[in-house]
Amino acid sequence: MLTAEIRRRFLDHFAKAGHTVVPSAPLLFDDPNLLFVPAGMVPFKPYFLGQETPPWPTAVSVQKCVRTLDIEEVGKTTRHGTFFQMNGNFSFGQYFKEGAMELAWSLITGDLDDGGLGIDPATIWVTVLDSDQESRALWKKVAGLPDERIQDRGLLDNYWHMGVAGPGGPCSEIYVDRGPEFGPDGGPVVDEDRFLEIWNLVFMAEEIANVRGKDQFDVVQPLPQPNIDTGMGLERVAYLLQGKANLYETDEVFPVVEKAAQLTGRTYGADHDDDVRFRVVADHVRSGLMLMGDGVTPGNEGRGYVLRRLLRRAVRSMRLLGYEDRALPELLPVSLEQMKTSYPELEADFARIAKVAYAEEEAFRQTLGKGTQLFETAANRVKAAGGTSLAGDQAFALHDTYGFPIDLTLEMASEQGLTVDEEGFRSLMGEQRSRAKADAKSKKGSHADTTVYRGVLDANGPTDWRAYTTLSTESRALALISDGQSVPALSAGSIGEVVLDRTPFYAESGGQHADAGHLRWSTSSGEGSVEVLDVQRPVKGLVVHQVRVLDGELTVDTALEAQVDPDWRRGARQAHSGTHVVHAALREVLGPTALQAGSFNRPGYLRLDFGWNGALSPDQMSSVEEASNRALREDLEVTAQTMSLPEAREWGALALFGETYGEDVRVVQIGGPWSRELCGGTHVERSSQIGTVVLTSDGSVGAGNRRIEALVGLEGFAYLARERDVVRQLTDILKTQPGDVTARVQDLVDRLKAVEKESEKLRAAQLMGAAADIAAAARDINGVAFVGHHAAGAGGGDVRSLALDIRGRLQDRPAVVAVIGDAGDKPMAVVALNAAAQDRGLSANDLIDVIGPVIGGRGGGKADVAQGGGTDVSAISAALDAAAAAL
Ligand code: ALA
Repeated sequence: MLTAEIRRRFLDHFAKAGHTVVPSAPLLFDDPNLLFVPAGMVPFKPYFLGQETPPWPTAVSVQKCVRTLDIEEVGKTTRHGTFFQMNGNFSFGQYFKEGAMELAWSLITGDLDDGGLGIDPATIWVTVLDSDQESRALWKKVAGLPDERIQDRGLLDNYWHMGVAGPGGPCSEIYVDRGPEFGPDGGPVVDEDRFLEIWNLVFMAEEIANVRGKDQFDVVQPLPQPNIDTGMGLERVAYLLQGKANLYETDEVFPVVEKAAQLTGRTYGADHDDDVRFRVVADHVRSGLMLMGDGVTPGNEGRGYVLRRLLRRAVRSMRLLGYEDRALPELLPVSLEQMKTSYPELEADFARIAKVAYAEEEAFRQTLGKGTQLFETAANRVKAAGGTSLAGDQAFALHDTYGFPIDLTLEMASEQGLTVDEEGFRSLMGEQRSRAKADAKSKKGSHADTTVYRGVLDANGPTDWRAYTTLSTESRALALISDGQSVPALSAGSIGEVVLDRTPFYAESGGQHADAGHLRWSTSSGEGSVEVLDVQRPVKGLVVHQVRVLDGELTVDTALEAQVDPDWRRGARQAHSGTHVVHAALREVLGPTALQAGSFNRPGYLRLDFGWNGALSPDQMSSVEEASNRALREDLEVTAQTMSLPEAREWGALALFGETYGEDVRVVQIGGPWSRELCGGTHVERSSQIGTVVLTSDGSVGAGNRRIEALVGLEGFAYLARERDVVRQLTDILKTQPGDVTARVQDLVDRLKAVEKESEKLRAAQLMGAAADIAAAARDINGVAFVGHHAAGAGGGDVRSLALDIRGRLQDRPAVVAVIGDAGDKPMAVVALNAAAQDRGLSANDLIDVIGPVIGGRGGGKADVAQGGGTDVSAISAALDAAAAAL
């Protein structure tokens, strides 16, 4: 049975039972705790916790998931895949354990002709939490399972939570016995390869916190209602029903393996190591495709880094299979072909996806080129020093700086008869990982613990939010918060947070900076004011103002006036509309693949990250600026409309990622279809109000992404005025007209270059002129003429020429010449020996090894000439003495 067919049967089964079919959320979900969506329940979390009312009582979905904790395991065991699809049914306070079991049982054992999966009931085993004997009894009742096929397990296996504070509950897992050829008897507690877990039913009924491990957490309170969350691994069921050994051989994945086999000329199933590589290729290409489809681009941290690793591991595995050509252009279209049935949007977007992927492969090819050179140098050094092992820090540097994977380092080392200090490498990696973790934690911000905000929300309901309609409201302070605790008052000078019953303040979101302004009060008990520093929405529906109390004391319940700074807001509207204008202009000039990946705007300033390879040419920059300003001059109408997500999609509104379901979305248009984006920001009414758009920079933010910055409104004019001022100053200095400035400066630069060249020549001649005198001053050490010279002011090339020149003048006897220059405050040494000195067994290489450490550096070369650099110019004469002494 094809994967898409299993998926269809799953959705149909639950739709028939009254569930609403909900499409998969994007892999990037707006949750600070998650890199990617790891389970089907993620989009429904607020409904389980009772933070939001579910739009439907029961739901069913097939959710795209990515788990990347054990990328290294992919292909080695047959159960690990990075991308997979989770079939799930969800009940929000409707049916519970018994209902979930009935629905699951009837689907898996149901007749094929009746839309079931046709699995033989005699092969099915389940596990339950040992303290949950209710579930044991229910399984017997619902499915007639005998006691011996219901196994007890502890919290470690049969309690499910997200690994962080949130909903959780006991679970019951359903297994299928694949038969004795897959392993020993004894059920899932004995062997999870033979007994394959296909479905996890979670009885989600508790809110947990302080999660320290799978089985270590605190139960905070029961959830407002008992819920059901289930997860069936679509790929697992597919390989079970397709009679395959593992997920890599299913219909959605195997064609990539076959293509890889065809390209490499190797056979899948012939060699274990090769098979692992084939599986890595197939898994990673598919995961990469799905991630790029959801807008991830390769980068050096977070989500981008995961994608980069996946793509690079795929390319690298192809190389290990002997294929050195560009692999992704061959493989990615094959994966698309399999996935587009279920995800047609991938096909529509494939031009963009392919561009991103192929650029990443190109970048990796360059990395490999550079890293290989570096590796050879390091390996040669180890061998020259008589060593057999490449140091851990070398391997780490290759990995860290050049993205050189350790397995590549290991393999290349073994080809050279070397080992690698893997332990040293891993401990450095470990340190780096802890740094990254600490970094990620600190980035989660002060709102990681939302308990206090949830309390305020529960007590008062959502904030009456008026940002679209007014700049000031009569409001009341519902709650004051300081250091994460509710407090009765905030005194003058203190910083804290204020929740109002209603507010005109825009909370930071969608790239738009929060509003600035004031809260002022004057009551019988006193008056005062606070400055609003930031506005956030730490939990959905609740607007929280971060403030500094300017004067007076603000107490809970005070009636006050909330006033947004009108100038600030005007600037914010210009900047946000300007961002949309620049985005549309970029797409007009560069084409539809120049899609926004992120943005930020505050009054006067905006920046926009978008998918594009290579810098924009000056022509492209002016075209984008011109298209933007043309849109301003056309005085286009700016409108905002609310509609359902599918309607917005149909309209062609550009969606950013991470929307929630069941809600209407807001579409902002500038000039009708010219710019149509999903957006919750505040905007000008007509494009001319933006004033002007001045592009100030274009730069790279990781492979495949550019960042463009611009100024709008008065800031744009101010920028141009400053530039005009620079031109005026230049015309003053150069005593010329603005139109002639460029030619005059070019002329000056050319002349300066010519003069520098001339003086360079003179200096070299002077230096060489001294060569005869220096050679004449050679002293004899054990029958060898030795020259040790400090060439003040000389740099690399000159030092070398001088040393060779002096050596040339000492041809009649064994001669050793050491010259050290100090240009740029960096000592630079060259040692040159003639043939007669080398015949005496002397070597320039040995002498540079003496000089190097003294000047704080090192060097290398051959027996006749060697050179090296250092850091300490004050040690030059000591270094020359050391060379003489060594001689
Ligand atoms: N949320 C449960 C899981 O991911 C169903 O296994």
